[in-house]
Amino acid sequence: MAALSFQASQATAAQTGASQSRIIIESVTKIFRDRTTSVEAVRDASFRVSDGEFVSIIGPSGCGKSTLLRIIGGLTPVTRGRVEVAGRSPVEAQHRKDIGFVFQQPALLAWRTVLANVELGLRLNPGAHREPLCSIPDMLRLVGLEDFAKAYPYQLSGGMQQRVAIARALIFDPSLLLMDEPFGALDEITRDAMRYELLRIWSQARKTVLFVTHSIPEAIVLSDRVIVMSSRPGQIRDVVDIDLPRPREQDLETSPQFLACSERIKKLLRTREPERMSSTT
Ligand SMILES: Nc1ncnc2c1ncn2[C@@H]1O[C@H](COP(=O)(O)OP(=O)(O)O)[C@@H](O)[C@H]1O
Ligand SMILES: [Mg+2]
Repeated sequence: MAALSFQASQATAAQTGASQSRIIIESVTKIFRDRTTSVEAVRDASFRVSDGEFVSIIGPSGCGKSTLLRIIGGLTPVTRGRVEVAGRSPVEAQHRKDIGFVFQQPALLAWRTVLANVELGLRLNPGAHREPLCSIPDMLRLVGLEDFAKAYPYQLSGGMQQRVAIARALIFDPSLLLMDEPFGALDEITRDAMRYELLRIWSQARKTVLFVTHSIPEAIVLSDRVIVMSSRPGQIRDVVDIDLPRPREQDLETSPQFLACSERIKKLLRTREPERMSSTT
């Protein structure tokens, strides 16, 4: 694959302050309330993510992972606590298009080609005062879809559709990429391949990534650190440093260091806490 040059866009990012991108979460609690119910989804969560870091959040279903991501993405307000993204409130960061999202479903427009779907990433973001990360053909090369520019979503596999979603999120050059179980709907084999594909893309685009997953191997292979959450109300059990050398290849998954990280995370996920009343009806 031809080497891509991101020099120009990095200069733009520096000028706009986006290069200082980072996340600060301090004592964040989120309670969903309506007239009859109150659900404490996240309790007293604190962590920071530095520029260029790849951090995963792992935890059981319903522990507040998506809620945390939505808070950071400016889509849900906190009940208590402080959140900063690239030195701004999440809503401001979102308005400035500092944040790219990739969800479990790629949500592509069926009547638009791959190229036109990626282009939409730019068209939907006219307020983003910055140059695209690179040209659309270069972006398609980055995600390995250069031969599918004119294909329609129905002609693509699930993994390829998710690459389009990644390209659409990256094209407007956000400083932060929020990914919520992006490979959750893929079969095991494609999922295994996609994590290395994402590593390759990340090593070139060098964005700060916050990645939600259920998969321990996926979290370890990808991340600099893994935030382990407890079941609802979601609390941060611990943050595990993944001190494995990069670049990471598939044989890493059988190394003793990898297995030690995996055991550590499993143990944290198994730790039982006293039952708490977290919702009332
Ligand atoms: N908009 C909402 N209104 C009410 N409850 C919600 C809402 N969104 C999430 N929840 C509740 O918050 C908890 C955490 O949800 P979520 O963040 O989606 O968990 P996860 O992504 O870890 O599976 C769940 O109990 C869920 O039912
Ligand atoms: Mg979720």
